[in-house]
Amino acid sequence: MPLPSSIVILTGAGISAESGLGTFRDKDGIWTKYPLEDLATPEGFARNPDFVHGFYNDRRRQLKTARPHAGHEAIARLQTACEAEGREFLLVTQNVDNLHEQAGSTNVVHMHGELTQIRCMACHAVMEWHEDIGREVPCPSCSEAGYLRPHIVWFGEMPLEMDRISLALSHCSLFISIGTSGAVYPAAGFVQEALYAGAKTVELNLEPSENAHVFSESQYGPASEILPGWVERLIA
Ligand code: OAD
Repeated sequence: MPLPSSIVILTGAGISAESGLGTFRDKDGIWTKYPLEDLATPEGFARNPDFVHGFYNDRRRQLKTARPHAGHEAIARLQTACEAEGREFLLVTQNVDNLHEQAGSTNVVHMHGELTQIRCMACHAVMEWHEDIGREVPCPSCSEAGYLRPHIVWFGEMPLEMDRISLALSHCSLFISIGTSGAVYPAAGFVQEALYAGAKTVELNLEPSENAHVFSESQYGPASEILPGWVERLIA
């Protein structure tokens, strides 16, 4: 069987769970231990920037030793196979880690931002950054101190690159959702957009997500175990 003409993949925290990065809503998930409204909203950052910087500094440090697993690598193989056959392929992730890139994926859309980038609220520059940030750190672009923030999309803010995502969804023939609970919009609505385009929809997750009933095919288990075989069958 030829590869589908246009594939869109959406990943969430579940794809990175086996690399040691926590998910958000599972038992022991990040939002069961920390208040979301304090750590993932602009209002929380305005109230207590040191607390928010500390949380993302810890996550940035944790990322330095995190490595991708067989599931990330399978997605990168699928991209290579699609591009070799002239198929369209777009990987959209809600994750702020860089494990897809470490595994070899390219042109990844990080709709919720990236841990390894910072943004200056004074000059609006977005810059690559791998160290801790704090209120005392001057912006490398405009030299103002006290204006740097993680380049993370918080609740109440607009996700990034929505035009590019919508365009890909509007003509995709296969949509695959991996490791996401389907609890956060707009990402949770992508499956519906893919359905409107007539796409086949597949869910690969540890357990049925909130959207499970919408998918035409599903397979449940850890991403590192189910993805390699699923991708090999598609490529073959
Ligand atoms: P969630 O924590 O809401 O969901 C993670 C999903 O991954 C759950 O459905 C799990 O069953 C599944 N899962 C866990 N371990 C897995 C594994 N080993 N293999 C496969 N699946 C596994 O995370 P997201 O859906 O990514 O946004 O959350 C969406 C957004 O909410 C995040 O981007 C983040 C968060 O608040 C912001 O911070 C703005």
